[in-house]
Parts: sequence; structure tokens; C-alpha cells
Amino acid sequence: MFKEILKTKLSTVEIFIGNNILLSLIEKEKTNLFLIIDDTVFNLYHDILTNLPNLLGIYKVTPGEESKSFDTYKDIIEKISLINLKKDDTVLAIGGGVVTDLAGFVASTYKRGINLINVPTTLIGMVDASIGGKCGINFNTYKNQIGNIYQPKKIIIDLSFLKTLPEEIFIAGFSEIIKIAFTSSYSLYEKLNNCKITEIHDEKFLLNIIRLAVKAKIKYVEIDEFDQNERKILNFGHTIGHLIEKNSNFSISHGVAVALGMVSEIKNKEIETKLIDMLKKFSLLNLQIPKIDYLKSLLTDKKANNLGITLIEITTIGKSNIKNYRKDELTNEQFWKEY
Ligand SMILES: NC(=O)c1ccc[n+]([C@@H]2O[C@H](COP(=O)([O-])OP(=O)(O)OC[C@H]3O[C@@H](n4cnc5c(N)ncnc54)[C@H](O)[C@@H]3O)[C@@H](O)[C@H]2O)c1
Repeated sequence: MFKEILKTKLSTVEIFIGNNILLSLIEKEKTNLFLIIDDTVFNLYHDILTNLPNLLGIYKVTPGEESKSFDTYKDIIEKISLINLKKDDTVLAIGGGVVTDLAGFVASTYKRGINLINVPTTLIGMVDASIGGKCGINFNTYKNQIGNIYQPKKIIIDLSFLKTLPEEIFIAGFSEIIKIAFTSSYSLYEKLNNCKITEIHDEKFLLNIIRLAVKAKIKYVEIDEFDQNERKILNFGHTIGHLIEKNSNFSISHGVAVALGMVSEIKNKEIETKLIDMLKKFSLLNLQIPKIDYLKSLLTDKKANNLGITLIEITTIGKSNIKNYRKDELTNEQFWKEY
């Protein structure tokens, strides 16, 4: 098992990464726990999870983005108020990004903030959603409209959950890992480049790449917890990716949309070829980039400022900058790449 520490001005977050580590770590917890868990995960791991110590209650979240809602939030607050969950008790969140975003928001607001432990069960959760404190719910048609940045006390990344993850959802996680490799970690790029696609479920490989991705994310959160500056580098591929996702009415998955977004946004031709090769290797580029009027959306988007828009520039693999473009420096055609 590996242990990493994420330190911000006000918080210290212990991050554990290993295989079959959840129960032994939770057994050491001294506080009472309230479990908020993805319903599918609960059904799959029911036998283990009902043996958790000091369990005051369980709230099962219906899988899907719709659960990141005000109604679910209110329902959970009602339940934990009824059982009188105390300020020094702990919310234990087990699931993908939907559950950790929702449970994080509950923990950050209930009694002005109670303890939180995140246990991500998807690959995206393990390298991204459970780390860094961003949490929240959707409101009407607005994604992540209400939320917070609230650090959990612990993050337990237990690889054993990945064995039941559907392959498509597992692969989607590689989109974010490839993003981290190209923007921030040459050693992660090398590991992804050198692996055989038949090896991507191997424990040793997964431990290595998750650890490298987590280290990169820790670095950004430590220097820019509130997403004012450097942390924006992790938006690479997401500016165009979000527009692709939205335009498809979310029929294109987040992972695939980010893959298309990264190719669309990248400017350096030599690195673009390497990015395309890698995304194809992981079967993340089976679609072409839709020819949408990106510029129009970007200039009315919240990311647009008076100067134009911000995109991430990859300078060499593993290094990147934040770059502002004036409106007249960008064209739709430059985003509409074919491969
Ligand atoms: N807070 C952040 O920094 C951050 C970062 C990235 C994404 N997100 C959010 O995360 C959400 C997406 O998260 P996600 O991609 O993890 O998807 P998800 O939470 O919707 O889970 C995807 C599916 O996988 C199932 N599942 C989860 N773990 C499983 C397991 N171990 N075995 C079998 N099935 C399992 C779930 O039931 C669900 O059907 C979005 O709402 C997004 O906004 C947040």
C-alpha cells in the first residue's frame, strides 16, 4: 500500500492507494460512520460493507447524474438529522464521482462541515473526482451549479473495486489519466506508452499509473486549491469536451468527449500525433470531432473573458501552460480536426 499526503492551508488529506485495503483502514476509525453509497456498488459489495464498524446508517444513491440533485441532497440531510449525526461523526462516501460529489457537498454543509472519507470505486473517481475537494450538485439544467471546495480527511483508493467496473466506464477513466500525462507527467506518459493494452487491468500497472496521476493532482491542489490559476491546467480537453458532451445531450460519455476535446484543443502538431496515437490505443477516438460552432459557445461561456478564451497549451509532453487567446486568434476550423 502507498500513502500520499495532500496539504492545503487548512487541511491535511491522507491518501491511501492499494488493493483490498478498505476494511483494515476503516477498522482503525474511531468516529461513527454514515455511509453514502452508490446502489450498484452496495449490491456488489454488500457482504463486506455491512460489516463496517460503527455504522450509524446507510443511504443508497440511485446510480446516475440525476442523483446529484437538490432532492437527493435534501433527503440525505433529513435522514442524518433524524439520526442526529454529530459534528465529529464521519460521512463515508463509496462510489464514483456522482456519489463523492454529492456526499462531499452533504459533509461540507451539514453542521457547517463534518468529517468526510472518500472511497472512489471508478477509475475517474480514483484519479480525479475524489481528490481535490470539489463537490456539489446540479441544479435544473446547470451542471455543478451549487457546490463547494471541501477537503476529505482521508481518501482510500482500493483497486479491488475496479474488478466489477464495466469495461466502457473503466476505459473512460484513461481519458483523464492521458490528460494528466500530457499536461503534467512525462513518466506517466511513458508508462501508458510502453504498456500493452492487454496489461491495463494488471494490479502493478494500475497501482503505478494511479499513483502517478494522484501525485500530479496533489501538486495542483496544493498550489492552487481554489482553482484560480495552475489547477486550471487540468481543464485541458474539457473546454471543447464539455461542449461536445452537452451538444450530444450527454449520449457521448465524459471520457470520450474529453478525448475529442484534447485533440481539438491541442496546437503542437508533433504532440498532437502522439496524443492521437495514445487515445486510439485506448479506443477513445472512435468518433470524429463534431463540427459545432465552438467559438460562439466559448465566447458566451463562463470561461470567456473580455480578452477571449483560455486554453491549455502543451509545451512538451508532461509540461503545459495556461494561455489566453483573443477572439480573432481562434477559428472554428482549428477545432474541427480529422484523424
Ligand atoms: N469533483 C471533481 O473534481 C470531479 C472530477 C471529475 C468528475 N466529477 C463528477 O463525477 C461524476 C462522474 O463520475 P464517474 O465517472 O465516476 O461516474 P458515476 O459515479 O456516475 O459511476 C458510473 C457508473 O459506474 C457504476 N459503478 C461505480 N463503481 C462501480 C464498481 N466498482 N463496480 C461496478 N459499477 C460501478 C455506477 O453505479 C454508475 O452506474 C460526474 O458527475 C462529474 O461531474 C467530479
